[in-house]
Amino acid sequence: VLLLAACSGASPSTVDPKGSESREIAGVWWLMFGVGVVVYVVVAGLVIRAATRGRRHARRESRISDAAFIWIGGIIVPALILLGLGVVTVTTSNAIRQPDSRALRVEVTGVRWWWQVRYPDEGITTANELHVPVGRPIQIRLGSRDVIHSFWVPQLAGKVDTIPGQPNTLRFTAETAGTYLGECAEFCGLQHAHMGFAVIAESPGAFGRWAAREARPASEPTSELAARGEMVFVRSSCAGCHTVRGTPAAGDVGPDLTHVGSRGTLGARAVTNTPDHLAHWIRAPDFFKPGVLMPTHQISGDDVDAVVAYLEAQR
Ligand code: CUA
Repeated sequence: VLLLAACSGASPSTVDPKGSESREIAGVWWLMFGVGVVVYVVVAGLVIRAATRGRRHARRESRISDAAFIWIGGIIVPALILLGLGVVTVTTSNAIRQPDSRALRVEVTGVRWWWQVRYPDEGITTANELHVPVGRPIQIRLGSRDVIHSFWVPQLAGKVDTIPGQPNTLRFTAETAGTYLGECAEFCGLQHAHMGFAVIAESPGAFGRWAAREARPASEPTSELAARGEMVFVRSSCAGCHTVRGTPAAGDVGPDLTHVGSRGTLGARAVTNTPDHLAHWIRAPDFFKPGVLMPTHQISGDDVDAVVAYLEAQR
């Protein structure tokens, strides 16, 4: 049962919170679990007692009448428990939704099957990776470009749906530096399972350096191969869907590739980002992600190597 529940150490767990919001949610979860255990033990104890005490006691007068027992055990006690849990749930929900004027604003858009990430105040657009400074409140505006997705980083916050035409807001503060995995938590089509992302929480200094680097346009190619790669990229259909800031490539259909070389994975965590995987990806995106909306292109082997050299150098 534990294997089926995917309870391996590598899975992100809601009961191992690393953010302000997830800590509150985990607190409510443990309270409900504790109350559930007490109720279970009491009811199971009464069932066992009723089953074992036998018929000879059946006629003896009980200290408490049947009607009073039903009123207390069946109505008053459950109502008090539910009322208490209801109050805790509502006050916790309110507490984790309080806006904070110091918050770092981020905009995340769900797209089949990846995440567009924008930092409007920093002028950054990236994909499938959110960098956040530890200790600073984050306010994420969630939207969708096509169908309903759900943005979920179990160790940092609760899950919130991204709905076309209906922006939602998610707030949290990362408490510990680290990489926290996120998943799309709403079935959204063929590659729902490969719609992962990562939140990288780092010190404010490291975040500042990352943001400064990401805000810059792409660097000039430094080798002959990379220069040819840029030419192929800009002149082929790549540029129709992808943006590389600082070049004529300004498509908005696929992920912004301005600093793609600095990202850990390709295809929304489908594979690790290596030159080999990127070459495979360009030749046949379907290989790693069947059903992916990126079409297969007729680009010669040499040109693919050139594009890979160009993109992997964009850090
Ligand atoms: Cu997007 Cu599931």
